[in-house]
Amino acid sequence: MTEIHSAWLPPEAFRAIGSRRVLVAGEGPLVETVREEVGRACAGFGGSLADGADLVLATWESLPDGARKVLDGAEPGGDEEFLIGRRGGVTVVAGGPAGVLYGLFHVVRMGERAFGADFAAEPHRPAMRRRMLDHWDNVDVHPVMGQVERGYAGGSIFWEEGGPRGDLERVRAYGRLLAAVGVNAVAVNNVNVHATEARLLTDRLGDVADLAGVLRPYGIKVHLSVTFAAPVVLGGLDTADPLDEDVRAWWAEATHRVYEAIPDFGGYLVKADSEGQPGPFAYGRTHADGANLLAGVLAPYGGVVHWRAFVYDHRQDWRDRSTDRARAACDHFAPLDGQFAENAILQVKHGPMDFQVREPVSPVIAAMPRTRLAVELQVTQEYTGQQRHVCYLAPMWREVLGFEPWGPGGRSVAGVAEELVAVSNVGADPYWTGHPLAQANLYAFGRLAWDPGLDPGEILDEWIGLTFPDVAERVREPLRTIMDGSWETYERYTAPLGVGFMVRPGHHYGPDVDGYEYTPWGTYHFADRDGVGVDRTRATGTGYTGQYPEPWSEVYESLERCPDELLLFFHHVPYGHVLKSGKTVIQHIYDTHFAGAEEVAALRPVWDGLAGLVDPALHARVGELLDEQLRSAREWRDQINTYFFRKSGVPDAHGRRIH
Ligand code: GCU
Repeated sequence: MTEIHSAWLPPEAFRAIGSRRVLVAGEGPLVETVREEVGRACAGFGGSLADGADLVLATWESLPDGARKVLDGAEPGGDEEFLIGRRGGVTVVAGGPAGVLYGLFHVVRMGERAFGADFAAEPHRPAMRRRMLDHWDNVDVHPVMGQVERGYAGGSIFWEEGGPRGDLERVRAYGRLLAAVGVNAVAVNNVNVHATEARLLTDRLGDVADLAGVLRPYGIKVHLSVTFAAPVVLGGLDTADPLDEDVRAWWAEATHRVYEAIPDFGGYLVKADSEGQPGPFAYGRTHADGANLLAGVLAPYGGVVHWRAFVYDHRQDWRDRSTDRARAACDHFAPLDGQFAENAILQVKHGPMDFQVREPVSPVIAAMPRTRLAVELQVTQEYTGQQRHVCYLAPMWREVLGFEPWGPGGRSVAGVAEELVAVSNVGADPYWTGHPLAQANLYAFGRLAWDPGLDPGEILDEWIGLTFPDVAERVREPLRTIMDGSWETYERYTAPLGVGFMVRPGHHYGPDVDGYEYTPWGTYHFADRDGVGVDRTRATGTGYTGQYPEPWSEVYESLERCPDELLLFFHHVPYGHVLKSGKTVIQHIYDTHFAGAEEVAALRPVWDGLAGLVDPALHARVGELLDEQLRSAREWRDQINTYFFRKSGVPDAHGRRIH
């Protein structure tokens, strides 16, 4: 199969629009995109593009008076906002140019419902001002990480073996899919910026401009990961000190050239002083100094710098129990609150460690009220099954976004963060995401960034309806059975109770309980014959719990109040410690691991039932992956259970087989 999968935009999803009389009014590249979409849909389903008797899609300025009445005099909002209403058999969508584009895809999601009973005008606007995907794509094939770092969907859609991939049609199709879920920014290269990638900023800028040109009509701005050492490695200066005048001049000049090539360029993304990447620490400067340097040169053009908060000591001594990686981001950044420039955005991973299947919410989010924050999610499934396992992540993201750092009734993470960013899971694979069902994660990311209040189950329903339009009603139940609870299933058969990792070092796939235990990476579980878990309390541990405001600082500190699912993240407890569930920790470990593997075993027959309903190649692909997931889940079950049985000597209460 060489054809590219249509994902959530198959032609059939446009039937409702394509069979109607539609007026598209307005100008500019985004409205042109809408016109093109509607034209194609009408050509396919017998409708017509001209008179707007059924549907009007227009910018505010171009909205015909009659159609304006349908919107009840509602006021225009920002560029991305749209209003939609229906009266007297006419559906009207109006907004800024981007709003019209988003409105079109809203109508696609509504399908026939958009043309049923009248409904009053409703405003739609994105909750997050920037909804961004970071591609960890390398231009050169990295000797260890390959073409895409932590990529599980084949090569890069942008780059191939040292240069541009050149398949701009594919990039266009990607832009279209992203626009349909409201994504408006893409970083086109890995945050780990190697030699060739560094030059995207200078002599390879044309390649970036090509991508920007293709993504522009979909309302997507291009951003670039840059190396903090660029003035040295590209400019021949002997320093990259952010307070040095020559350094500033070099960045100003480079940035000027970027905007000459790409007038609507989004900005820079920087991973500094992190896992070996250069940064301001080398010059005795702060991360605010570093971020503000770049913010300063971007400001005249309206650009922004995304500065990552993922700064920790990746060369720590495992013998040293006082250093706590979870503390690092807050320790480094909270004292800098209020010092970042207006167009500097601190990009914070949602948890304090590294995209584990279960982590508490990062304390940085509550600790920096005077700093613009972007929360970073990982759509690519580095630690959640690498797109070989089904793991629908929207329930986890929904939990993160709904978390109230100041306690019940206070602001939520979604209310604090201005932006939602995620590491993309897309590659050159015909299904885009390796595992075809992992498309739902990309879809859900965009939808939650637009509206963090959406229900993950409803998002899944939407995705199913669009992706499998002909058979949606027949595949809905089975797919929900397979996907709804897949994150929790994954959690059950992997690292228990929030302790994290236990993965094979390097590639991070499959179990290896002690794989990281005696390494410099700061990711430990501290299991011994008596107990397991990381003591992060103020009373006896690393003091991490003190980085949260109340009530969480107290809740997490307390062995009694700490939620079960995070117990081993915050506390070191004996195996006989009784959870709120009434089970001991050791029995919980056994029970969840047996249950998790059984849940996976139950998926295959459900999927088999979809044979003949979905495309045979897709059916076969998912079937193979489910077999691998089952093999892997059993391996996890056996290694974890055996490990803890051997450590603790406590037998399983139900006498099941442990090796
Ligand atoms: C993880 C991942 C790395 C990545 C890093 C980051 O540690 O394993 O490959 O570079 O996150 O977010 O920068």
